[in-house]
Amino acid sequence: MNIIDIIAKKRDGYQLNKSEINYFINNYVSGEVKDYQASALLMAIYLNGMSRQETVDLTRAMMYSGEVIDLSNIKGVKVDKHSTGGVGDKTSIVLGPIVASAGAKLAMISGRGLGHTGGTLDKLESIPGMNVSLTDKQFKKQVKQINIAVMSQTANINPADKKMYALRDVTATVGVIPLIASSIMSKKLASGSNTILLDVKIGSGAFMKNLTDAKKLTNTLVDIGNFFKRDTRAIITDMRQPLGYAVGNILEIKEAIDTLKGNGPDDFTELCLQASAIILNQAKLAKSFKDGYSFAKKQLTSGAAFKKFKTWIKAQGGNTTYLDNPQKFKKAKHIILLKSNIDGYIEKIDALQIGEASMHLGAGRLTKDDSIDYAAGIILKTKVGFKIKKGGPLCEIHTNKNNYQPILKDVKKAFVITKKPVKVPSVVLEYIK
Ligand code: URA
Repeated sequence: MNIIDIIAKKRDGYQLNKSEINYFINNYVSGEVKDYQASALLMAIYLNGMSRQETVDLTRAMMYSGEVIDLSNIKGVKVDKHSTGGVGDKTSIVLGPIVASAGAKLAMISGRGLGHTGGTLDKLESIPGMNVSLTDKQFKKQVKQINIAVMSQTANINPADKKMYALRDVTATVGVIPLIASSIMSKKLASGSNTILLDVKIGSGAFMKNLTDAKKLTNTLVDIGNFFKRDTRAIITDMRQPLGYAVGNILEIKEAIDTLKGNGPDDFTELCLQASAIILNQAKLAKSFKDGYSFAKKQLTSGAAFKKFKTWIKAQGGNTTYLDNPQKFKKAKHIILLKSNIDGYIEKIDALQIGEASMHLGAGRLTKDDSIDYAAGIILKTKVGFKIKKGGPLCEIHTNKNNYQPILKDVKKAFVITKKPVKVPSVVLEYIK
């Protein structure tokens, strides 16, 4: 077997078998297959697609390219959740304590933000002292003891995806279903949980721009998870506007704290409750979605979820006095209020434009090595469907940069205001199991 024949076979539209896929992954990770050869194969896959069998084989080969975490000596159902990424998405930070306080074991390996999307790890690290670089041993011990741990991916987990994702990023081969699905699922399967809930975002701020494409990706993800005998379910959720009001690391942590205290935004709270309801049903702690929803709500209103949040943050070294007194968090030097020039109804708040502006204000990274300003970001003062008066507030800009003027213009462009009333959109669009 050799890589040139494998590339040629895929280029000519044939299906690769399991040994050919294993050959490619193993030899790419070891360095035998070069980046230029992997690029050619990825482009052939991008153009010709992959069958279900090929996608399953690719997922398996990537999952076993490194360590697979074994959570079997932790009693109970181990649950995991993954979002395809969006703007203002702090769901795991609220959902985690809800389900953990209800008895589920959440073992989550999470990611950092890149470009216009934020990452759960960066948000958590904006809490002073918080450590997300746990060893496997610490990770498992914490899940066992307090039902929740979130850590960054270690070098030993799925090295194939690390190499391939970086290559796809610079060879225009990211946006195709078999490669996205195998990348996401190989990581989720390697992290060892029994159940997986996927939150697939649609809209300008997401990979999938419309419901048809999102459904195709979602069905593939769920099918792969179930093939590997994990109870895998998914929700498709709206990312045509940012989730909640806050975008940016400290700003989102503060909104997560408000939500855990029962005072969160309607759309964000609803998403956290619905996602928690599904996870509690997957963990067999609730008989149905409806029961799970009431259970999740009870955890939020009773204060049990907030208490678990503090236990979790403390276990990973975070300073919990910030959670009790969020006014202690650092504030940006400049806080500027943007106002509407006209009366009307908010028709659109473009999530991509808000995410990109927030990144330029300092809240995100343009490249992997950029540093982050935790205090920077944007707080929306309105949402799609809301009425606005001329001079009424659109959003607040938080930044430590002095040259923020050009960014204000971009932020303003994200808001589309119309004269006709606009319906408040639902946040969860589909539930697939
Ligand atoms: N997220 C991933 O982890 N992989 C992809 O390919 C796309 C999104």
